[in-house]
Amino acid sequence: MAIKTCVFDAYGTLFDVAAAAREAASQPGNEILQDTWPAIAQDWRLKQLQYTWLRAVMQEHCDFWQVTQDGLDWALAAANISDARLRQVLLDLYWELSAYPEVAAMLKTLKDRGLATAILSNGSPDMLQAAVTSAQVGDLLDDVLSVESVGVFKPDARVYGLVTSRFDCAPDQVLFVSSNGWDAAGAAHFGFETVWVNRAGDPMDTLPWTPQHVLADLTDLPGLVV
Ligand code: LAC
Repeated sequence: MAIKTCVFDAYGTLFDVAAAAREAASQPGNEILQDTWPAIAQDWRLKQLQYTWLRAVMQEHCDFWQVTQDGLDWALAAANISDARLRQVLLDLYWELSAYPEVAAMLKTLKDRGLATAILSNGSPDMLQAAVTSAQVGDLLDDVLSVESVGVFKPDARVYGLVTSRFDCAPDQVLFVSSNGWDAAGAAHFGFETVWVNRAGDPMDTLPWTPQHVLADLTDLPGLVV
């Protein structure tokens, strides 16, 4: 069936999750991050995600802000950094992550072609609102859907079902775009057509649900829905 709706994961796909640690490292007074920020950014993200999966399996949901803080605390401990001020700097920056440079033009092209666009994210509604506002992409999105509506994290099928309910469509009318291979796999399992945005040149996840498309960034995405 023809694609009518393009749905995007937020963190790592539209918004650069490494930006918080990178920007903090460039600020005066945060020299301790100069060499450590890449490992902190990586650990922070990995633990944040692991905690979402664990909480989903254990049916002990909390919101994404909680696991974001918990993941950062693990990452700072792993780097032997105990600094409440720096912790707060990093957390504050998470509310204003930059969008990847091609995002606004790509969304505008989709809207000009009459497609519906949305975010579907683990993020809590207030985190997502802040990110969308800070990246100035709110006018280019028809909706911002948060897992908080169903109280469980991705890749639970109830999360992907928020899209088909909101846009009153079949799964195969949705193009779901994520830089997270596991998220693309979860979306493919649900029945969406999927795009994996492989910015890092990683190997593909060895799961049975593979993406139909792989892109290095979002620039060429509109070409998939002509
Ligand atoms: C999200 C995480 C998975 O935005 O990046 O849902």
